[in-house]
Amino acid sequence: METLLPEQRLIHASPIFKANASTDLTLYSAAQDRLSFWESQAQKLEWFRPWRAVLEWDRPFSKWFVGGKLNASYNCLDVHLDTHRRDAAALIWEGERGEVRSVTYAELHDEVSRFAAALVQEFGVQKGDRVTIYMPLIPEMVVSVLACARIGAIHSVVFGGFSAQSLADRIEDSQSTLVITADGGYRRGSIVPLKSIADEALTRFPDIPMVVVQHMGAPVAMDPTRDHWYHHLMDRTVEGLDAEPMDSEDPLFILYTSGTTGKPKGIVHTTGGYLTHAKYSSQLVFDLKDSDVYWCTADIGWITGHTYVVYGPLANGATVFLYEGSPDYPNKDRFWEMIERHRVSILYTAPTAIRAFMKWGDQYPNAHDLTSLRLLGSVGEPINPEAWMWYYTVIGGGRCPIVDTWWQTETGGIMISTLPALAPMRPGFAGQPLPGISVAILTEAGESVTSGGGLLSITEPWPSMARGIWGDNDRFKSVYWSTFESYFAGDGAMIDDDGYVMVLGRVDDVLNVAGHRIGTMEVESALVEFEGIAEAAVVGIPDDIKGQAILAFVILKEGVIPSPDMERAAIEWVSQTIGAIAKPKMIIFTPDLPKTRSGKIMRRLLKSIANGQPLGDTSTLANPDMVSALQTVLDTSLKRLL
Ligand code: WT7
Repeated sequence: METLLPEQRLIHASPIFKANASTDLTLYSAAQDRLSFWESQAQKLEWFRPWRAVLEWDRPFSKWFVGGKLNASYNCLDVHLDTHRRDAAALIWEGERGEVRSVTYAELHDEVSRFAAALVQEFGVQKGDRVTIYMPLIPEMVVSVLACARIGAIHSVVFGGFSAQSLADRIEDSQSTLVITADGGYRRGSIVPLKSIADEALTRFPDIPMVVVQHMGAPVAMDPTRDHWYHHLMDRTVEGLDAEPMDSEDPLFILYTSGTTGKPKGIVHTTGGYLTHAKYSSQLVFDLKDSDVYWCTADIGWITGHTYVVYGPLANGATVFLYEGSPDYPNKDRFWEMIERHRVSILYTAPTAIRAFMKWGDQYPNAHDLTSLRLLGSVGEPINPEAWMWYYTVIGGGRCPIVDTWWQTETGGIMISTLPALAPMRPGFAGQPLPGISVAILTEAGESVTSGGGLLSITEPWPSMARGIWGDNDRFKSVYWSTFESYFAGDGAMIDDDGYVMVLGRVDDVLNVAGHRIGTMEVESALVEFEGIAEAAVVGIPDDIKGQAILAFVILKEGVIPSPDMERAAIEWVSQTIGAIAKPKMIIFTPDLPKTRSGKIMRRLLKSIANGQPLGDTSTLANPDMVSALQTVLDTSLKRLL
């Protein structure tokens, strides 16, 4: 870790930004009294009934605002109806073909409450039921999420890039009783056939009904006994549904994320604590104002979309911009063109996108007026200082501060970020924990490091912390709570003398490809299901744009001959089984893999081989001779990628 030269440069936000920011340093002192600080944040929501205790902590399970009752949809919609925000845009949506729709808070409230009523009347959806949402990024996706929340049904959003099998696995694990989808979505000029993928998933569950939003207008096969058009349901639903008072600790949603086993984890978030942090952190980190047009480019299928497209900004009454399509369609200036057209003032995106824009060239952003921007954000993976500086100068015109935000599906909201109104930014460093959040960098023995590298841990419970893994709380305990007394995030990090944290990336068998979390085991299980493959081991290798790319080592069954066709077919198979985001960049066919005497593949060693790092101790290998052979195969194969 010492070899990593810490980025020394400090960059200060402009006096204008600081003067207009709605926060000050007293926040940090107020947060010293942690529980009363969080209580004051929770009071910014509307509660139907107050809580009797701020926190009940029975490690690793927390309950926040115990006994309180509220509704998340109410706090995102109804609370704005008697204010000046009523007729302000809640959503401005642009489709890939250039269509634009604007939805006010009053309209969104109407749509959500009627859809909630339809779900109750037509399908008997009740509080606590699980509903799977598999949709393109269109306003109806926001409507579906909030309609579930209004009823108290637990939504499980599955990203539209996942395969039929991944969708079916998540429907099964969550025991969903309804699926909401659309006839399709647009991606780079072509159609993602969401409805037919959902059809395929539902062959496993013939009794689950499906609601289909007509978005494309293209003909799709509708099963009259099972499928219902969204617009037909809405046509016959006049009366909206009032928001159901939910217990603060009632689950709001399940969101699946990859871990170190083949099976994704259904992370559970509850209502009161999650929404408290979503509202607080959106306001604080993005310095949200009524005049802002706020754009978080994440899909609602990820936690970033849940917290910073839907719940956080809407609870603050913000105007949220949504874009359905791809950043290079029809041209590589699409983002900048839309920022200019809609006067976007806050842009929150991922380093992988920033690096792609950088590679495409300055001429694309330079061709547009980006002066509406006043704040930039980054999330999903470490942002290298070079990309940071490019984002700052070329996109932000040296005028817009950057918030590099570290957090996870499990943390529910942002944990670490420099607040540029209060402290200087240091490119490459996410910065300091938010007021109310306690973070430590620990040695493997659990001792706190005050300067240098270690493992990232959150040392005190926080309101939006995961409440468990759906149906598997033993796994919850062992994954996050068995390394240290406090929460272990799975990331390596470094802290400098000023207490700024630089997150270095995962230390477990989880990859981060283009900001998406992918478990090596998931990809390996998919590969070994492929005809002819006997064994597989997957590691990450550095990638200029995606941060990491997937490299797969594969041993074929006796008599099976490796070929480029086989490689292509196996890669396609992974895409079919998990989704395109999990595609290996390359497969290396090898007769042997480094194994311990007990027959376990040594992935650590493979990682070092793949990344050209020192191999360390190889004495425990059953087959040490194969290492140099594998290195040679790899060297020749990697040349193909250059
Ligand atoms: C993992 C969580 C939470 C939003 C999207 C990803 C990495 C996230 C940063 C950052 C360095 C980051 C970590 C983390 N990560 N943000 N600003 N700097 N690394 O959510 O899929 O739950 O993945 O993403 O490795 O553990 P996720």
